[in-house]
Amino acid sequence: MRSSIAGALLFATIPLLVAAQNGTTQNGTAPPATIFVAGYDGFVRTLALTGEGNSSALTLVNQTDGCGANPSWLNIEITKQRVWCLDEGFVAGFGTLNSLDIEDNGILRPVEHRNVSASPVHSRIYNGGKNIVLAQFGNAETSGIRGGLTVHSIGDNGVLGASTNITFPGLSAPGPRPGQALPRAHGVFSDPEDKNLVVLDYGADLIRIYKQETDGSLTEGAVTRLAPGTGPRHARFFQHSANPQLYLFVLSEFQNTISTFNVSYDDDKLVLTGPSRVIDTFGGWGDATTLQNAKAAEIRVTYDNKFVIVSNRNDTTFPDSDSLTTFTVNADGSLVPVQIAAAGGKFPRSFQVNLKGDKVLVAAQTDSKVIVLARNPQSGLISGPIASLAIDTTIDGVPAGLPAAIWNE
Ligand SMILES: *[C@@H]1O[C@H](CO)[C@@H](O)[C@H](O)[C@H]1NC(C)=O
Ligand SMILES: *[C@@H]1O[C@H](CO)[C@@H](O)[C@H](O)[C@H]1NC(C)=O
Ligand SMILES: *[C@@H]1O[C@H](CO)[C@@H](O)[C@H](O)[C@H]1NC(C)=O
Ligand SMILES: *[C@@H]1O[C@H](CO)[C@@H](O)[C@H](O)[C@H]1NC(C)=O
Ligand SMILES: *[C@@H]1O[C@H](CO)[C@@H](O)[C@H](O)[C@H]1NC(C)=O
Ligand SMILES: *[C@@H]1O[C@H](CO)[C@@H](O)[C@H](O)[C@H]1NC(C)=O
Ligand SMILES: *[C@@H]1O[C@H](CO)[C@@H](O)[C@H](O)[C@H]1NC(C)=O
Ligand SMILES: *[C@@H]1O[C@H](CO)[C@@H](O)[C@H](O)[C@H]1NC(C)=O
Repeated sequence: MRSSIAGALLFATIPLLVAAQNGTTQNGTAPPATIFVAGYDGFVRTLALTGEGNSSALTLVNQTDGCGANPSWLNIEITKQRVWCLDEGFVAGFGTLNSLDIEDNGILRPVEHRNVSASPVHSRIYNGGKNIVLAQFGNAETSGIRGGLTVHSIGDNGVLGASTNITFPGLSAPGPRPGQALPRAHGVFSDPEDKNLVVLDYGADLIRIYKQETDGSLTEGAVTRLAPGTGPRHARFFQHSANPQLYLFVLSEFQNTISTFNVSYDDDKLVLTGPSRVIDTFGGWGDATTLQNAKAAEIRVTYDNKFVIVSNRNDTTFPDSDSLTTFTVNADGSLVPVQIAAAGGKFPRSFQVNLKGDKVLVAAQTDSKVIVLARNPQSGLISGPIASLAIDTTIDGVPAGLPAAIWNE
């Protein structure tokens, strides 16, 4: 199976793109941006984005099978030139945590591999880089294997140290939506002070808070109950330049909403109040049918701290493409819709605006396609694709898909 995929992806020449460490080539032109893409077919690929504007192109530079059978999520530590890659482990029934070094031209070299519990889908480095925490989704409902967190220490040399498994308690009754018979962590985010973790429990409709101890261990804190069938998936912290109040935006996959919570502290323990505001992820541009069938995936705040963007899956707003909705944020934490734009493909499970703010990278999972969209950093408006690359992730006649993509920056 693996060899036929590798065979299908053979390519004759690999462009050698020589760039100085400081970001310019010897002749002064900017080196191509590189991108890492996780494929459920067992490969993490490095792509290069060359050219400018509409003459941009995406090309495959290299690939590695060093992240297990089903790479699901990527986390970059740019100053350490390292990528942490999660393998959801559909094939094995349990997942793996993998570290890879970023070498010249964005080539990834596998370094370490560790077995973890079922289906890690999101990770966060915390405690000043001394720990990584994985959101474990758990296994199929019939297995009864519940989700939770796995916590791993990271040594100065990047080598993994001690680990802890935290399994969430079973539910007294299943939630109303598919997959909600078990508690499941879908996302884990540290607060701006790096003192607490917020965990989105998609199965139990809960937001779970953990306080970080100085050794990186976690102490369970407050639990916020959401309406049954919310399916909280990801979240982001936000602080407006004109208001010291800290907010948390919580994304619901089933209801397709963003809820704004106020964040405060009791000593160092994080406390959530609200939600004070709830807005749908289509910003009012989605009809009732769209809202019923859609499955919101990712939420991000742009690096300039001015825009919030959400990806919508299974959408009907555009032909042959799902969508990205952009919002600005008022000082009171309410969101103002700015634009709904075509994502360039189906099931944009992950996307990321680059540091400069002029491009959006999209992983269209079910289309097995990577898309780069142009974006105006001032207005936040996203325009059409400037480059895209379809990747063959076929296993046994079915595209395995691309769940995640990140910029190498
Ligand atoms: C980048 O590094 C090269 C080679 O070390 C050097 O010649 C060049 O001046 C540097 N450029 C900048 C902008 O620092
Ligand atoms: C500059 O050098 C890079 C590789 O070092 C090459 O790809 C590019 O074509 C060169 N650009 C010009 C304008 O010579
Ligand atoms: C890119 O192409 C689109 C249409 O395909 C066009 O509207 C846009 O102006 C072009 N952008 C540039 C920078 O040429
Ligand atoms: C990836 O890069 C490594 C190191 O340069 C090389 O040995 C390997 O053949 C490359 N693999 C592919 C698929 O391009
Ligand atoms: C991880 O799991 C695989 C498959 O069961 C097993 O072969 C391997 O020994 C495990 N690795 C460790 C370090 O336990
Ligand atoms: C955590 O769970 C994994 C997978 O079930 C197991 O291999 C590992 O030994 C456990 N670790 C600890 C510290 O209990
Ligand atoms: C949240 O914070 C905002 C801004 O400080 C304030 O206006 C609002 O009353 C707070 N809401 C709640 C529910 O605490
Ligand atoms: C997507 O929406 C369609 C209706 O447009 C629905 O039939 C289908 O089940 C939905 N797919 C998923 C994966 O939710």
